[in-house]
Amino acid sequence: MQMKRFILAAALVAFSVGQSLAQSLSPSTTWHWNEGTIVVDTPQRPAGQKNVLGLTVPKMQNVRVGFVGLGMRGPGAVERFCVIPGVEIVALCDYEQGRAERMQKNLRNAGLPPATVYCGAKGYEELCQRPDIDLVYIAVDWDHHFPVAKCALENGKHTAIEVPSVMNLEQCWELINLAEQKQLNCMILENCCYDWFELRTLNMAQAGVFGEILHAKGAYIHNLDPFWDYYWKNPDGSDPDRLGWRMKYNMENRGDVYATHGLGPVAQALNIHRGDRMTTLVAMDTKAVHGPDWVEAKTGKRPENYRNGDHTTTLIRTQNGKVIEIQHNVMNPQPYNRLYQLVGTKGFADKYPVRENGDGRGYALDAAQLQASGVTPKIDDLNSHDYMPYDQQVALTEKYESPIIQKYGERGRRLGHGGMDFMMDSRLVYCLQNGLPLDMDVYDMAEWCCVAELGAISCDHNFASVTVPDFTRGYWNVVKGFKHAYAADEAATEAVAEKVTAAQKTLGEQAWKEYDAATTLEERNAVAKKYAVLAQAEIEAALNGGKVSKETKKAVQKARKNRK
Ligand SMILES: NC(=O)c1ccc[n+]([C@@H]2O[C@H](COP(=O)([O-])OP(=O)(O)OC[C@H]3O[C@@H](n4cnc5c(N)ncnc54)[C@H](O)[C@@H]3O)[C@@H](O)[C@H]2O)c1
Repeated sequence: MQMKRFILAAALVAFSVGQSLAQSLSPSTTWHWNEGTIVVDTPQRPAGQKNVLGLTVPKMQNVRVGFVGLGMRGPGAVERFCVIPGVEIVALCDYEQGRAERMQKNLRNAGLPPATVYCGAKGYEELCQRPDIDLVYIAVDWDHHFPVAKCALENGKHTAIEVPSVMNLEQCWELINLAEQKQLNCMILENCCYDWFELRTLNMAQAGVFGEILHAKGAYIHNLDPFWDYYWKNPDGSDPDRLGWRMKYNMENRGDVYATHGLGPVAQALNIHRGDRMTTLVAMDTKAVHGPDWVEAKTGKRPENYRNGDHTTTLIRTQNGKVIEIQHNVMNPQPYNRLYQLVGTKGFADKYPVRENGDGRGYALDAAQLQASGVTPKIDDLNSHDYMPYDQQVALTEKYESPIIQKYGERGRRLGHGGMDFMMDSRLVYCLQNGLPLDMDVYDMAEWCCVAELGAISCDHNFASVTVPDFTRGYWNVVKGFKHAYAADEAATEAVAEKVTAAQKTLGEQAWKEYDAATTLEERNAVAKKYAVLAQAEIEAALNGGKVSKETKKAVQKARKNRK
């Protein structure tokens, strides 16, 4: 058996000018050939480290959040957190001061006190060091997900990271190790797991409506031409042609670099690392055409080695003999599509194209299976050769409506992507408030993101099969089936959450008066920090019949003095 160390020396030389901070191929990945398959090594779990499957942490009465990355995506998250009860927005951070400061309007409009603003390349470090933050919510570009998340975990913060959260295997293992060492949540913010069709279909899959699911498809097919020019351009000299981080990343990296929208929802339906696991993948890409054309049109120079093909397909086989097909195409003109398709032994689900009401194209079940699923067929000869008639599909989706949609769906419709973003954030906060395991853990993150590096290795070796590491390191078959966790005493937690938000609002007016009178960022931040302390006192008083701890009283005295 030939042992190979996968060192990127050649590639690093090729990309040494203007190289991104993150690459899909990590220098530390090792692998060897075995009978035509590339076997990727799994580093041993360091001694004394415990897995974080089903991790729970004590209930949080007040979820104190710091946001890092407020470009196109981040602001929506701030807006959503402003309307989730029981949340305190403590800090706002972006490389660009103006982007972070602009977010204050959401807090002001919600009647909440202002947050502290952090900016610059390393502003997030100070944010992560604050003792009064529980959760760091990250929506920076792909080069910075990892350093910010690492810093947050090292500082003992629960961490939620936009997709794709990690860009290579080294980053996967580092965040897994940190989450395990510190017993912290490190969640991938995969909003597509919360879209209406996906949630309902997951509910059906868990109830056995499709029998055993054998084949699943997912994708990110979205022509990004209207967006390429709007992605942030790192001013540190790494993007001299001002391509923007996303085009540059595609130029420098092969494989499916944005697999998680397609893979996340189907991985949940297939119980990945909850009774099954991905074992092998093969990736194949078309040549790159549109990306190099775009770069040439912008810069006048055709890139010599544009790595990402226009269309990449990845096939993944699981331990239990299932196959997942994932596609990525952000280049060519075609309708938006995440495919989302499940083929089971007894039924079929297929989301795209989406109908006008936002629901998917639908389901195919025969009369017997529909009856067995608890819905009376309206026609006796219903077969699964075609999609079921619309009214039958409505009856099916009503029967299997997701409790998450029932609770948050309508409220979230205007808050991004038809409601799925709000459902995701609400679930994250709900689980933290109720001391429940989060819907997505650090192993989901690694499994859904590793497709980039493993696919690049496959493509670079004549589309060979590549093994997928077991990121749980031996525990993939312990939990039986993916489940959303629910609290028994939800109403009590919600009442506390409402009090936490109301307590902060009592301070809003005065806080904004002082904020508006301040003339520098430093002064405005001093106001925000003072009001974070006052908010703590108000919250304690609201939750404990007017009582405030000695420690908080002292902090309040100090904060008032400092501001005079
Ligand atoms: N889940 C979804 O549906 C969805 C949709 C869009 C984007 N995203 C993801 O969200 C992330 C952000 O995308 P975007 O479209 O907002 O990109 P963007 O280019 O608009 O914003 C990136 C932001 O990160 C900031 N940033 C960079 N380095 C920083 C640092 N060191 N500290 C603080 N801030 C820093 C930049 O100033 C910029 O404002 C990406 O990971 C993207 O893939 C997800």
